[in-house]
Amino acid sequence: MSASFILDGRSIAFAEGQTIIQAALAAGVYIPHLCYHPEFKPHGSCKLCTVKVGGRQSASCTTLAQAGMVVESDTPALNDERRTLTQMLFVEGNHFCPSCEKSGDCKLQATAYDLGMMSAHFDHFFPSRPVDASHPDVLLDFNRCILCSLCVRASRDVDGKNVFALSGRGIKTHLIVNAKSGRLADTDVSLQDKALHVCPVGVMLRKDKGFTVPIGRRVFDLKPVSAYVDASAAIEKDQETVSALSKRSPI
Ligand code: FES
Repeated sequence: MSASFILDGRSIAFAEGQTIIQAALAAGVYIPHLCYHPEFKPHGSCKLCTVKVGGRQSASCTTLAQAGMVVESDTPALNDERRTLTQMLFVEGNHFCPSCEKSGDCKLQATAYDLGMMSAHFDHFFPSRPVDASHPDVLLDFNRCILCSLCVRASRDVDGKNVFALSGRGIKTHLIVNAKSGRLADTDVSLQDKALHVCPVGVMLRKDKGFTVPIGRRVFDLKPVSAYVDASAAIEKDQETVSALSKRSPI
């Protein structure tokens, strides 16, 4: 008999070494998350996946499942906190959803809808974050970065390039590229890089294709983020559709 723990009153089986979120998603139980991606080591930064384990808060993407543990996730109090964190992400950057190419394929937007976020609540910071349009194929729009580090992890762990990094501390933390000039055009990034596919928001956009999958038929137009077992894979699949329809290499 496999080991199990209790999540919101339901028994969840897990394999040794699995985290709470891995076991939950494998069992078809959604726990909100932004920086977690099934293909990468957890970063534990967004805190959307916070659950209560034995009454104490813990990030479910970095906490190993243990037999007999009692976990709460889908509670009004935890969802309130997740909504607040999401609102903070919206005001900390500049997220213009109606004009964003990633609208409908964006995990931040989808998570906000799923959590019932009706407004940003807090005052907007309106930070100045110039876009990097130096690369011939890829536009970097830092306005939408939520500092999940997925592009950093993908570039380092899959592409072996270290094109991206997070720099600074606290509120000054920001995404940078590995070039003295600070321009993406001066890195060795290529359209095939995993790093360009894993962004859960709309930072990395290919230049010559837009709205190839029409609004209304995108991943989170079809069903809410909580209904996907692996929303990250679903987003990437939509991006592959863009690639398949394109003469050029994918993003
Ligand atoms: Fe766990 Fe972001 S998904 S901290």
